[in-house]
Amino acid sequence: MYKNLKVLNHPLLQHKLTLLRDKNTNSKDFRALVKEIAMLEGYEVTRDLPLEDISIETPICKTKSSVITGKTVAIVPILRAGLGMVDGLLNLLPTAKVGHIGLYRNEETLHPVEYYCKLPLDVEQRTVIVTEPMLATGGSVLAAIKLLKSHGVKDIKIMTILSAQQGVDAVLKAHPDIELYTLAIDKELDENGYITPGLGDAGDRIFGTK
Ligand code: URA
Repeated sequence: MYKNLKVLNHPLLQHKLTLLRDKNTNSKDFRALVKEIAMLEGYEVTRDLPLEDISIETPICKTKSSVITGKTVAIVPILRAGLGMVDGLLNLLPTAKVGHIGLYRNEETLHPVEYYCKLPLDVEQRTVIVTEPMLATGGSVLAAIKLLKSHGVKDIKIMTILSAQQGVDAVLKAHPDIELYTLAIDKELDENGYITPGLGDAGDRIFGTK
């Protein structure tokens, strides 16, 4: 077990994950569940955001109370399935900036290739939460981490819904400095690279494509 791996076993999250796994869950419900999961998962992912005390006045008296300090957070979905988790996180962090990373798989080399990258200008000063519902081989997440580090980002948290052991090992062995959040780790990938038992193609199920 890695100390920077957090497998979130809260009953609400596990219940919603089962609904996502069910092939009879339609796109509308799948999308809503992904959003709810992102919000609940975000509660854990933001647990160590720095606080500072400020002076305020309650209706009763002057006092000091805590607020989140600093430049805080950028949310960076990996296109396209990562988009499904953005709104849930924005519910918690309405002032977060949102960057985007687009990657496609070169069918010959099977390596991810960047086709789009737009990040907040001050991204290196922020905690970056990367959203990617499915961590399969780890290829896309590794490429995203490399890209973010090349922009000077030091504080990276990867938020997935479902992972394969292979992807977890690939990411955390290469980058012991990042944090990885997931709801479950399935044992295998099938011959097409799908997590098994998994939940199918997350992008297709979020957006209703095939
Ligand atoms: N991406 C998906 O959407 N599903 C998988 O099972 C693996 C990668």
